[in-house]
Amino acid sequence: MQMKVEPLFATPLARVDLSSYITEAQVAFVDGLEMVTNQQNKISENLYVLDRPELSGFRDIISKCLNDYAEQVMGCDQQLEITQSWSLRNAPGVGMHSHSHSNSIVSGSFYYTELPTPPSKMFFDRNTFYQRLEIPPRPERASIFNTKVNAVIPQTGELLLFPSELNHMVEQNPSSQPRSVIAFNSFLRGKIGSFRDVSELSL
Ligand SMILES: [Fe+2]
Repeated sequence: MQMKVEPLFATPLARVDLSSYITEAQVAFVDGLEMVTNQQNKISENLYVLDRPELSGFRDIISKCLNDYAEQVMGCDQQLEITQSWSLRNAPGVGMHSHSHSNSIVSGSFYYTELPTPPSKMFFDRNTFYQRLEIPPRPERASIFNTKVNAVIPQTGELLLFPSELNHMVEQNPSSQPRSVIAFNSFLRGKIGSFRDVSELSL
């Protein structure tokens, strides 16, 4: 007997190479932002960095990617609009605690400058809450049907887009160089729901 298994649902992770869309001046601008302590790593003091005029052209590129995601991945007519945006820097030996992004539909991270070697992996977690039963697969049987965590190795110049409710963390930076990223949230713009079902909501 042969068992055939097919996925019923899947969690999307969109990857876009934007390395040719950011200028050296924009990279220098982000590198020069004032940073403050954020648990272990550093976060920009400005939490709307993509609203800065120095990054306006690049903000348009990210908006385009978000709207491609809305259309191609979510399959919806509404727009995804950038809300807050910030930069993060992980010094050698420093990672980013597990978290998800509230009040956001799709979140993203953009590796705007050279990633150190080796680059820290980003781990996405299937579960958000406490699990009464934890039954991990044997390593050799791990698959998207049973794995609890999936790792992604980001590339320099790459944009990652993922559902904001998805828990994620960054492993400790194993290199001797800092690891920097721009991160952002988004929310829907447009009308959702149904007038006749009294679920209509204009955003
Ligand atoms: Fe995050």
